Amino acid sequence: MSEARTASTAEGLSVADAGLDRAIRMRVNGSWHEFGPASGIGGSMTLAWLLREKLGLTGLKVSCDEGACGACTVLRDGKAVLSCMILAVEADGHEFPTIEGLPADDPVVEAFAEQCESGHGTALQCGYCTPGFVLTARAFLNENPSPSLAEIKEALSGNICRCGCYQAIAQAVLKAAAKIALRGRKA
Ligand code: FES
Ligand code: FES
Repeated sequence: MSEARTASTAEGLSVADAGLDRAIRMRVNGSWHEFGPASGIGGSMTLAWLLREKLGLTGLKVSCDEGACGACTVLRDGKAVLSCMILAVEADGHEFPTIEGLPADDPVVEAFAEQCESGHGTALQCGYCTPGFVLTARAFLNENPSPSLAEIKEALSGNICRCGCYQAIAQAVLKAAAKIALRGRKA
């Protein structure tokens, strides 16, 4: 995605794409970043655009760019949010783990990887949706570490997998919950 989407206000008015009038700071994967008026960030630019184009964090995907698919999910202060629906200026002062910030031994990451092994069905074909599902699951399990399958499906219902891996994805989240019960870990 080379250009930022133009966001709209609640009144439906286009947000003027002027540069920032003040510096904004955000913590991403443990490191603080500051962007000032000369950073090239406009008032209409989204957090998704900033993370991908300014910080090179291309794990999050921008698919629908209108809040309908979950591909751009990141965590904000521990909650799953859609980064295509948040303006960069609104990120000021917050903490954002992205998929790049999760360790390989995170229970959710491990469970998704295991669910892709032979004999388990697969939670991943093209992988485009995977970072969004992993972070949505991560936030959900932080709130509800021992969910039922029905609760998992409900929690993931805002994420779309065009490859149709829904059953295996839900199984991966169940497996992650079992791992958390054994080890305990929050993102
Ligand atoms: S790209 Fe953000 S919800 Fe689809
Ligand atoms: S694995 Fe291809 S979109 Fe989900």
